[in-house]
Amino acid sequence: MAQIAICGNFKVNKRKVEDNMLNETIENWYLLNIPTKPNLSQVKDLNWMQYNPRKPIARKGFPLTSLDGGTSGIPELDSLREYNKIHGTNYKESSFQKTTSAGREIFGDFLSEFKCGRSNLIKIEPGGFFPWHRDLGEDTFRVCYFFESVNPFSFVWIENDQVIPIHPTSWMGVNTKTKHCVFAFEPVVLAVFNILNTEENKKNLYKYLAV
Ligand SMILES: [Fe+2]
Repeated sequence: MAQIAICGNFKVNKRKVEDNMLNETIENWYLLNIPTKPNLSQVKDLNWMQYNPRKPIARKGFPLTSLDGGTSGIPELDSLREYNKIHGTNYKESSFQKTTSAGREIFGDFLSEFKCGRSNLIKIEPGGFFPWHRDLGEDTFRVCYFFESVNPFSFVWIENDQVIPIHPTSWMGVNTKTKHCVFAFEPVVLAVFNILNTEENKKNLYKYLAV
């Protein structure tokens, strides 16, 4: 049974906090020494599609995993919360586990080591952004790879009111359950992986912690 603890004026469901892996012992963002380091030339010819087609924001994407291994981007490149509401579906990040051809070609080693749910390449053009939000759900946790175009001057990620120091061709785990937003000043490409919340994946991840 879940225990209730009192933190300041807020009631916190203690069991939920404990179940939300990584939060207890690891920072909200942390560098990972993962050897797979693709570059922009490997993604330049992809058939990039609009991310969340209902929103005219300068964001494109391409699926690295999907429901059936296909690359239509539907619904992988949508807001799952909005898509589920419109279509009466109940997709979660863990629903998208089939590696696509691009996933195999660009991140084959990583995707065969880590069992992942919805994982996408995201291209943000100047002025493109993701507004403040939280990515809730306990079935997965997030790891990102930042291509060489991403640096502190081209891209800003604010995580729980702090700017994350992001370096080109780096891997980072980020707790996206806390509030965050991103903004691009120059064209940038990143890959966002939803790693399934399993003991095996967690053990694998710890091998790559930079510190
Ligand atoms: Fe997010």
